[in-house]
Amino acid sequence: MAHDAHHQSPEPEEPYEKALERLNRFQEPEARAAIADLGLTPGSRGLDVGCGVGLYALWLAEAVAPGGRVLGIERPVERVEAARQLVGARAPGRLEFRQGDATAIDAAAGTFDWVWCGDVLHHVQGTGAALKEFVRVARPGGRIIVKESQVMPAVFLPGHPEFERRMQAAEVERHREEAGGRSFPERRQRTLASMREAGLADVSLRTYLVQRRAPLDPAAREYIERVVFARNWGPRLSELLSPEDRRRRSALCDPASRECVLTLPDYYCLYSFCVFTATTPA
Ligand SMILES: C[S@@+](CC[C@H](N)C(=O)[O-])C[C@H]1O[C@@H](n2cnc3c(N)ncnc32)[C@H](O)[C@@H]1O
Repeated sequence: MAHDAHHQSPEPEEPYEKALERLNRFQEPEARAAIADLGLTPGSRGLDVGCGVGLYALWLAEAVAPGGRVLGIERPVERVEAARQLVGARAPGRLEFRQGDATAIDAAAGTFDWVWCGDVLHHVQGTGAALKEFVRVARPGGRIIVKESQVMPAVFLPGHPEFERRMQAAEVERHREEAGGRSFPERRQRTLASMREAGLADVSLRTYLVQRRAPLDPAAREYIERVVFARNWGPRLSELLSPEDRRRRSALCDPASRECVLTLPDYYCLYSFCVFTATTPA
C-alpha cells in the first residue's frame, strides 16, 4: 500500500466485521421497513446467504416471529463466529449461523420458504450458479430476495459532486479485480436481469432511501466517519488519487479538519438500496 503523507487516519483500520456492523446500524430503520414490506409469513423458514455479522438475520427472524427460523451462512469462519457473538443469543432456537457458500449450499432441495441475500451477490463471481442454488434450496413457489446497496451512487459529500464521483471511481477501480473484471456497480445493476435469466418469475424491484441530516445520529456519524471516509476512502485509495484529491479528501473527510463536512450544520447524506424479489417456479 502506498504511503500517503497527506492522509491521516484517525486510528488503525477496524476489522471488517466492525465496518459491517456499522453499515447495518446505519441502515437499520429502512432495513427493518424493507423487511416489513416483504410481508414474510410468521412461522416461515428462511436462509440468509452471506449473513455478515448477523444483524439482518436477526431482523428477519424477528419478522417471522413467532416460530419462524432463520439460518445464516457465511464463508469465513471468523464471520460466522462474529454473528454468533453479536446476535446468536437474541432469538433462541430460531436463529442459527453456519459456514457455507452461496454457490454450494449444504441444504436439501426445498428446505426454505424464502432466501435472503443482502449485499452479497455482486461479490459472487458465479451469479447464475448462486441464484440456481437459491432456487434449489427454496420450496416451489418460495421467494428469493436479493438486496443490493448503491445501485445508484450515494451522496456523502453534498456540494462536491465531481470530487465525490472521482472518489467513487477510485473505489470501483480498487475492487475491479475482486469483481472479476466487471465493476461492483455494474454487477449490482445487472441483478434484475440475472434473476430473470435464472428462470425466476414475478421479479420486482423496490428502492429505499436512507436520508440523514445534521445533527447526525451516532449510527450515521460513525458509519460515515469510520467506514466511508476512514476505511473505504482511506489509505486504500491513496495511490489511485491525484495529490490534489488526496489533499481535498483530508480536508473534507478527516474529523480533525476544520473543513470536515460532518461539522456543517447543513450536512446531509443520501444512500439507497434496492430490494429485488421473485418467486421460484411452483
Ligand atoms: C457486504 S457483506 C454483506 C453482509 C450481510 N449480508 C449484510 O447485509 O450486512 C458481503 C458478505 O458476503 C459474503 N460472501 C461473499 N461471497 C460469498 C459466498 N460465495 N458465499 C457466502 N458468503 C459470501 C462475505 O463473506 C461478506 O461477509
